[in-house]
Amino acid sequence: MINLRPKVRIENLVKIYGENPQHALHLFREGGNRDEILGATGNVLGVADVSLSINEGELFVIMGLSGSGKSTLVRCINRLIDPTSGHVYIDDEDIVKVSKERLREIRRTKISMVFQRFGLFPHKSVLDNVQYGLEVRGIDADVRRQKALDTLEVVGLRQWADYLPSALSGGMQQRVGLARALATDAPILLMDEAFGALDPLIRRGMQEELIRLQRDLQKTIIFISHDIQESLKIGDRVAIMKDGYMVQVGTPQEIVTNPADDYIREFTLDVNRAQVLTTGAIMRSEQQFSLQRGSARLALEDMQDLSRHHMFVITDGKPVGLLVRDELEAAVGRGVQDVHQVMITDFPRVQADMNLEQVFSIAQDGIPLAVVNDGGKFEGMIEPTDIFAGISAAPQNDRQASAAHRHATSQQLVS
Ligand SMILES: Nc1ncnc2c1ncn2[C@@H]1O[C@H](COP(=O)(O)OP(=O)(O)OP(=O)(O)O)[C@@H](O)[C@H]1O
Ligand SMILES: [Mg+2]
Repeated sequence: MINLRPKVRIENLVKIYGENPQHALHLFREGGNRDEILGATGNVLGVADVSLSINEGELFVIMGLSGSGKSTLVRCINRLIDPTSGHVYIDDEDIVKVSKERLREIRRTKISMVFQRFGLFPHKSVLDNVQYGLEVRGIDADVRRQKALDTLEVVGLRQWADYLPSALSGGMQQRVGLARALATDAPILLMDEAFGALDPLIRRGMQEELIRLQRDLQKTIIFISHDIQESLKIGDRVAIMKDGYMVQVGTPQEIVTNPADDYIREFTLDVNRAQVLTTGAIMRSEQQFSLQRGSARLALEDMQDLSRHHMFVITDGKPVGLLVRDELEAAVGRGVQDVHQVMITDFPRVQADMNLEQVFSIAQDGIPLAVVNDGGKFEGMIEPTDIFAGISAAPQNDRQASAAHRHATSQQLVS
């Protein structure tokens, strides 16, 4: 569960690299862009006035191309880099203003970081690598050994504790790096391109593992990626950066269905929408027929009044049957009274948080799906055509790309 309490809050953060950042900052405030500032001062605008609020328990992804300022932004969060201007609040404490001593304390207790190249000590065993973060925190030998073993268990590497990192594959080494960060119990995890060095297949496995770990551990994770597919897959929310600026922050669905500008639209063309969009986003909450209301004739009148071809029959809030208008009409014509005799009872049921890819395989030709909650109560319905429209809908002002994309997406689904 994401708590709507901000854990990390970034306010108007600016980072300028170079000799005279204050002068460059002045130019920036006057409206100068990155190139102008570089030309006039030789200084590099790394992060340009970024404000963000990251909630407790959120898996928050910062995405952008190389040089867009992702690492700079994240390193300002634990002040590996000092911002030129602005604030970074962790639990409402502005870490830009704290003393050196307090900063050390915050780093020890609240934040841990996982790096792209794992950062493991080659001559230390896997166990000692995982213990390391606890050792520097001054934790007892017995306690830290047990904690390290427990955390290795969590990432599935308990039996590798006594090996050297070189005996492990890249994906396993990255899990050791992750275990080292997790073992500290720090509530905030910063992951800078943590999966960047992994093979695609292993990388996908790690993404799933991170989602699973996050569900169990409830950390606040700030994850950097330059891969849009990865970002939209794992992020509760995704922030997209360009040239130091924050261009859009939103849920994966918001970014795919409502890109803020052409730059982001361009990115989302490559996205497999079926994986990003959920059933809840396209479901219709149309009227259903209550079984208590009675006869087949009444049901038919409802469907005619509402111009509906399909209607779910509900009792106690749960869908129990599906009416198809043509069949209902024929049955009423034959004098059938009881709705039970005409309704289809083996219609598919899906949940609102399933993505369209999962739902696509369940959908049968022409029959709508009932969307139900955990308790089996009716939440809405979707038609198979809704699923297809949701998957293939592409930006409207780019029709050619959209047609090509639609084609590509349907190919992908068929194969
Ligand atoms: N120490 C530095 N001195 C000068 N400029 C720097 C320094 N570190 C980063 N920059 C510049 O700041 C900008 C943002 O860099 P940053 O490393 O934050 O980008 P990034 O999004 O993490 O890129 P990547 O995906 O390649 O890791 C870039 O233009 C980079 O050249
Ligand atoms: Mg970087």
